[in-house]
Amino acid sequence: MSISTQPLTGTFGVSVSGLDLQDVARGQGFGDLRSLFEEHSALLFRDQTVTDDDHLAIAQMFGPIEDRLADERKPGEAYEVPRVSNVRDDGAVTAADDLHTLNLKSNFLWHADSTFLPVPALTNILIGRVVTTTGGATELASTRAAWAAMPEELKTRVRGRGIWHKYSHSRAKISPELAKLPMFNKWPDQHWNSIWTNPVNGREALYIASHAYAIDGYDAPESKALLEELFAFCTQPHFTYSHQWAVGDVLIWDQRAVLHRGTPWPYDQPRTLSSICTSVTEADGLDAMRISATSTTEGSIH
Ligand code: OGA
Ligand code: MN
Repeated sequence: MSISTQPLTGTFGVSVSGLDLQDVARGQGFGDLRSLFEEHSALLFRDQTVTDDDHLAIAQMFGPIEDRLADERKPGEAYEVPRVSNVRDDGAVTAADDLHTLNLKSNFLWHADSTFLPVPALTNILIGRVVTTTGGATELASTRAAWAAMPEELKTRVRGRGIWHKYSHSRAKISPELAKLPMFNKWPDQHWNSIWTNPVNGREALYIASHAYAIDGYDAPESKALLEELFAFCTQPHFTYSHQWAVGDVLIWDQRAVLHRGTPWPYDQPRTLSSICTSVTEADGLDAMRISATSTTEGSIH
């Protein structure tokens, strides 16, 4: 069967048919998948049967598996495929106001994953395991399409500047208590170029996230206002895709060029997605994202 694609939106993303992810996990077709990923930034596969092992195998083809909990695991405890879930180990759903649910609510802010890590994420491979009858969509926004369409006046205000990111910043927007937890304060603040250039095709994308708190050359209120303006531009309906989950759906996106967010659902309903992020490597354009000490804009508020 040959691979075919159907557009998800007018600007980015495709639904892929004729490529079984079980085959990819066994070594067939990753080259095609990776080309589609570079070209379209977001890929949807429906009706897939993907075990945790398959999931891990596919993720490893993209790059190193991101393991944010490595330092919290006891000796001998194995890596487990992370679940984005409101279901506790005892099977009950977490209460709407507990810290775990609040953390899920932080996902409702537009973000790219792991911009706060010393090595950020290249992709997230998200699989629908338990889905809700209503709500709980995952939404994507193309910062590549948005950057290409952005008025020069707005581009000029951010081009060539570094942007500072930290995990606790996005958590503080939801709850000050959440932001204080050690797990959100493990890494030093990260400073990334505002534009990620894809090394395969040269396409540029704005690199922002809910974790971003300062843009070089602007003070805190100016940074906040500019970030808000950039998010508003990038998340206009024609740059976004909203995915209502079915069990067996697999969504893969390029974190260098796509923002995402979760959306609310009735919290008494269980919702579980499996999620593996992989880290970028130098081949994905990481080096050009680092701000060298000499090029740091004077007047950085950091
Ligand atoms: C994630 C994420 C959103 C959702 O897994 O990184 O942001 O819809 N998920 O659960
Ligand atoms: Mn996320």
